[in-house]
This record gives sequence, C-alpha cells and structure tokens, in this order.
Amino acid sequence: MALPSLLLATIMLLSSSKIAFTQEQPHCADIDCHYKLRPVGAKHTSDYALYLENNEGTPMSFFHDVPLQPSENVFNMVVEIPRWDNAKLETTKEVVMNPIKHDKNKDGSLRYVPNLFPINGYPANYGMIPKTWEDSYVLTKSTGTYGDNDPIDVLELGCEVGFAGQIKQVKVLGGLILVDEDQTDWKIFTIDVRDPLASSMNDLEDIESHYPGFVDLVKNWFTVYKIPSTGKPNTLGFDGKCIGKEEATKKVYEMHEYWKRLINGTIAEEDTKGIQRFTTTTVGSPYQVGPSSPQVKSVPKANPQPYTKPGVAVEKWAFLPAEWSFLEKAKSDDEV
Ligand SMILES: *[C@@H]1O[C@H](CO)[C@@H](O)[C@H](O)[C@H]1NC(C)=O
Repeated sequence: MALPSLLLATIMLLSSSKIAFTQEQPHCADIDCHYKLRPVGAKHTSDYALYLENNEGTPMSFFHDVPLQPSENVFNMVVEIPRWDNAKLETTKEVVMNPIKHDKNKDGSLRYVPNLFPINGYPANYGMIPKTWEDSYVLTKSTGTYGDNDPIDVLELGCEVGFAGQIKQVKVLGGLILVDEDQTDWKIFTIDVRDPLASSMNDLEDIESHYPGFVDLVKNWFTVYKIPSTGKPNTLGFDGKCIGKEEATKKVYEMHEYWKRLINGTIAEEDTKGIQRFTTTTVGSPYQVGPSSPQVKSVPKANPQPYTKPGVAVEKWAFLPAEWSFLEKAKSDDEV
C-alpha cells in the first residue's frame, strides 16, 4: 500500500516542520560552571533574551563582566552564533545588562545570515571577546575608517559546535581587518584551548597547515556575505593580508584599553551611541550596580519558552552572481 504510507510520510513531514522545540540551552555557560545562563522567551522571536548570571543568580553583563583573560595567554570568548547556524544572535549594547538577542534587519524582521553556497550559515563559532570595544571615534589609519562601536569579533576554529552564551577559553592565532559598511571591524582567529589541535595551533600559519584553504575562504566569505542582503561587498584592509598572533593579541589589548575608557567614565554618554554600561563586577566603575539596584532588578526572571524553527527561508541556498563566486576569487587573490 504505497499511497497511504506516502501520504503518512507527507503528513509527518508537514507536521514536523511545525514542531515546537524546547530550549536546549545548557545551564552552565562554561565548562567549569563559573557562570549560568538565564534564557527569557522563545528563540527566533524578537522577545528572546539570553542573560548571564553568577552562581548566586546575580545578573552579569557578557560585555562588561566576563573577564578578558581567565589565565595568561588565554582569552575568554562569548559565543553568539554557533558554527553552521544562521540566526544573527548578538550581545546587545543598548539593553541593560547586555543580554544576547536576535539582531534585526532594517524592516524589523529577525536577521538570518544566508547559506552562501556551499557554506551553511557561519563557517566557524562566532562571537566576541568581553571587555573590549572598537571605539567609534578611533580612526584606523590604514583603512580610513572608524571603529564599529562593538566588542571585538572572534572566530573560533575548534571542532566543537558551540552554543549561544557559551564562554569558551581560547588562544589567539591571528586576525584580519574587514571594512564592513564603512566601519573598522576586526576579526580575530582563535581556537578553544580544549580542542585536540590547540597545542599544535599557535600562530596564523598553523591555521593554513591544519585547515588548508580556511583563511582564504573566511576572508572571501566576509567580503561577500552581505551581498544577498545589501547588494554590496565588504572590503578587507591591508590588501587582505592577515596579521599573526602577536599583532592580533596587541589589537585585543588595545581594544581592552578602549573598553576601560568606556567603563571608567572617560567616554561621554553621547559618544557611546546608547551603550548600557551597567556592570555588577567592575569595582570602581561609576556604572557598578549591586544585586538590589533597580537595573539588576529590571532583568527578567528565567522564562524559557518552546520555539519553532524559522523554516525554509533559512534552509535555502543563496548563490552569488558568477563574478562573485568566492571560491574562484580566493584563488585569483592568491595570484595577485
Ligand atoms: C580610564 O582608563 C583609561 C585607559 O586605561 C586610562 O588611561 C584613564 O586614566 C582612566 N581614567 C580614570 C578616570 O580612571
């Protein structure tokens, strides 16, 4: 009886696309459970917010409260978008205590990064280094652009697919400078210290030996990934040259100094473009608030809700016009 089973299969397929998922968010944000996650609302809705808290349940800011370095030569990274995911989740600057939320398009819809053939979503775990800030009044001379007003962006190349809100301990390997919508936007390459390859990845050239072609692919992916939405490519600074571990590490420390000016009140309110600076751990900061402050009290209680996946819009491939076939472009760039 082929027909009924086919029908059944179709019905199952249709109904499975409407399945409600429960929040699969792990409780602990890092492997040692120094921090916990506080999910609020349903993923894939504009209300969704993922807060961070300490073990006593006091909210913390991913941006201002997670230490830059848990130990020497190791940095913390806040994962916002797991590898191969499309939902553009990011640490909010303008919401009190800076939860991770869905970024939105100009029309108010939630933002999903396309599956730019042949890559599904983001090519690596993606996020930021806490306590860093690309000051939007600091000029990058080589590109003539100013900072993008965000914490510094990170790609983590380890094999583990992370989760939003995860705090990974990473080694810095290198970086590249992207000019994205006329702003300086550093991307730092890192690897999780627990990754099996971590001990043999120490600098930029180690990425090429263990992940041949990866750096070129990422460079080109960042150049073209906004073409499906904006129609315009981004450009790379330094003629697309990457920087190595030493320079990238210096860059992170430089961004940490800018963050210090932000959190110690040197930066005037009007120059922050709406950044919420409340912190529960930065001793001496004019923005430090306690567990019973109105700011901390305003953080919603944990309230994870079932969610549905966004469906076909996120599952389809996006193809670039032939002249932007970035795998080809990666080759021709090398010849230049
Ligand atoms: C704020 O931090 C910056 C960067 O470290 C430093 O130069 C400045 O002296 C600090 N200002 C205050 C008021 O602490």
